[in-house]
Amino acid sequence: MSEEKKTLLDEARETINRVDREMAHLFEERMDAVRKVAEYKIAHGLQVLDAEREKQVIERNSALIEDEALRAYYIEFLKNNMAVSRRFQHNIMPNEHNVIPVRLGNDSYDITVCRGAIDLAAEKIMKKDRKVCVVTDSGVPKEYSDKLLTALGDGAILHVIPAGEENKTFESLLGVLREMLDAGFARTDAVVALGGGVVGDLAGFAAATYMRGIDFYNIPTTLLAQVDSSVGGKTAVDLDGYKNMIGAFHQPRAVFIDPDLLATLPLRHISAGLCEALKMGATSDPVLFELFEKGNVLASPKLIEEIIVRAVKAKRDVVEIDEREGGLRKVLNFGHTLGHAIESVSGLSLLHGECVALGMIPMCENEEFKKRLAKALSNIGLSTDITKYSANKKAILEALTHDKKSAAGGKISAVLLRDIGEFEFISLTPEEIIERLV
Ligand SMILES: NC(=O)c1ccc[n+]([C@@H]2O[C@H](COP(=O)([O-])OP(=O)(O)OC[C@H]3O[C@@H](n4cnc5c(N)ncnc54)[C@H](O)[C@@H]3O)[C@@H](O)[C@H]2O)c1
Repeated sequence: MSEEKKTLLDEARETINRVDREMAHLFEERMDAVRKVAEYKIAHGLQVLDAEREKQVIERNSALIEDEALRAYYIEFLKNNMAVSRRFQHNIMPNEHNVIPVRLGNDSYDITVCRGAIDLAAEKIMKKDRKVCVVTDSGVPKEYSDKLLTALGDGAILHVIPAGEENKTFESLLGVLREMLDAGFARTDAVVALGGGVVGDLAGFAAATYMRGIDFYNIPTTLLAQVDSSVGGKTAVDLDGYKNMIGAFHQPRAVFIDPDLLATLPLRHISAGLCEALKMGATSDPVLFELFEKGNVLASPKLIEEIIVRAVKAKRDVVEIDEREGGLRKVLNFGHTLGHAIESVSGLSLLHGECVALGMIPMCENEEFKKRLAKALSNIGLSTDITKYSANKKAILEALTHDKKSAAGGKISAVLLRDIGEFEFISLTPEEIIERLV
């Protein structure tokens, strides 16, 4: 190397060293501030990840870099910085591990609610040396699947389906099964769902059917999936527009719930998922119900975490008594008879939980309780204003008549609620249900 090149190299390296030394001091100052943020979050029950803020920081700071090519590297640098901050905050925040056992004889399993659940899941799943197929969808943040695949190591493959209920189909199921077959999956291998209820139902059914059933693990990432669909072992795909027409009961080996994964979920989905938790409180758990009466639930991730744990326990209690929906488990359909009908006339403009919220009030018998329930629903940002739909009685009547839960004699089974935990199973004609809308 010529003397001139050597000098240039030395100079450049010296610049890098100097900048790194300066950055070391700035790093200390930065992490001191990060610690203060964590302390504030602990005191106010806030989550570590604030996805919206991170997006703003990236946009604002990257605009400072003029060179376009360099800007892409700077964005990567910023993302790494933020990941370090998050890990640091996680490590100093208290992390309660709530382990909720589901006792179903040979099919018993634990549901763990804690931060860092992805790493914990990978550790438990890879206790056996085996292949793992991670199923996720295109709407689940990629950083979650990246993290899981890294933690699972070499034996893991990723199968991504397009997001949305319209993809909970037989074709998507075949895609998962073929991918496992091509990768030589055997009976000792496993499927992991990383996503909402769509992914959980589909991946669970793939696990139920591949080689007559292999191990299934669930890491639910929507609130609805965390409090409802990941508990109880129902798996399914839709057929010709009919929901959950083909499926099986297949209990997971374990479920790992991380409330922090909800930080990226749109608020509307948080509200809709909370509706199912409120339903659990209304039908069986006064303490859970009262958590919804504590004001603006959506503003408190700590309260949401408490609700998740309590709702999982409430659903677990029902499932333990009636694993296959032979009796008591039907209580979980409270609000759903009318809710499903509203869902089909709303033309996908409403989320499932929003429709259930509308469907619950008309199925309450007592005015006092109706008021309490309506207030609790408004605390999670859900409307109970049914006027728009009561004007559309004809369409709702048609949808009710097509309800697959139609019993003999044209009657539909529904759940009536008198007060918290005081329910009755009844059979009503579609017309009788419509009368309740008024
Ligand atoms: N098995 C059961 O017992 C049971 C019970 C209730 C509902 N379900 C089923 O659940 C399904 C509905 O589930 P859902 O409401 O979770 O919908 P979903 O699975 O479609 O998820 C909603 C959207 O959120 C996105 N998403 C998921 N996690 C995210 C995250 N952390 N951040 C940002 N975006 C995220 C998804 O990509 C999707 O676009 C229905 O198919 C229903 O039949 C099953």
